[in-house]
Amino acid sequence: MSTHNDMTTLSPFAQEVALTLNQRPRQLPTHYLYDNLGSALFDAICHLPWYHLTRAEEGLLKKYGGAICSFCENLGEIIELGPGSGAKMQHLLRGRRHIPNQKPHADNGNDGEPPSLDIHLIDISAAALDEASTRLESCENTLVHCHHCTYQEGLRRIAGETREQPSTHRRLALMLGSNLGNFSPQDSQNLLQDMSRILSPGDYLLLGVDLVKEEDALCLAYNDPLGLTAAFNRNILQRINQELGANFAQNTFAYEVIWNSRAERVESYLVSKVAQEVSIPGANMTIQLKAGEALWTESSYKYRLQGLQDMVAQCSLYARQSWVDEEAQFALFLAEKVT
Ligand code: AVJ
Repeated sequence: MSTHNDMTTLSPFAQEVALTLNQRPRQLPTHYLYDNLGSALFDAICHLPWYHLTRAEEGLLKKYGGAICSFCENLGEIIELGPGSGAKMQHLLRGRRHIPNQKPHADNGNDGEPPSLDIHLIDISAAALDEASTRLESCENTLVHCHHCTYQEGLRRIAGETREQPSTHRRLALMLGSNLGNFSPQDSQNLLQDMSRILSPGDYLLLGVDLVKEEDALCLAYNDPLGLTAAFNRNILQRINQELGANFAQNTFAYEVIWNSRAERVESYLVSKVAQEVSIPGANMTIQLKAGEALWTESSYKYRLQGLQDMVAQCSLYARQSWVDEEAQFALFLAEKVT
């Protein structure tokens, strides 16, 4: 362990923990919820009867994958931010086969199979990239490129490369699973701008987004009776204990969820039940928590179609179509790059 007080000697995890815990209200870095255990817990959450998002999206992708693929005529490249297991894109790709009039690419004279497709996957999780690339390489005529880095860095790299495919081939950028929901409005605007930058006029962006709905349903989705989501959030305290030698005591924290109707987001917290001091040697810090003081672990923004339309319009993207699961209030939202 480092004995220096210099920030630069701290691991990236330690630096982010220190930075977010020093904010008011105190926060924890959301994307660090996903270590091996956290990712397994998240996978389990997706099967919860109260967390409709994943199943609703899968249903839409299966049902409308063909329609989406035929919108993006001459699809030659797909770039996905946060592919997870790759299953979502696989559902979408199955739609390619059912497009009757798709012209085969020049390098692919065979009408029987779908045209060749370059797939770029961007993720900070090596395990996710492994699983997704294996799954997507097994699809017909695909070539998978992995970018093991942040979304921003991956998009920057892709923007720096010259497009190799003929200019008639369209690009589709994907961000599914309501992953956008973890970003603040300003950060999502920046991220959409970065996505838009790799698109040329006629290319597409597809977002999978959870919509604003009734408060009770939203709170139940993030505070499930089985306690899986609580465990998923608590895991970050465990991770800080393990990796940074901290002494967070789980039983002194309560997991709480609120719907912030003004900001239209679900907020998840670990609330200290007592006044206490916690030391985090790996981050060179000690924190004093008041009784009732909260550590904010996650925001899950919910959207409205009109709001999405306005948001993408600021990035030269024009809303073309959306497909909504009425029961779950979840949407696939397709926009086209203009100018
Ligand atoms: C993966 C960010 C979309 O906010 O719904 C699920 C993560 N957190 N349950 C979400 C999550 C608690 C999820 N996203």
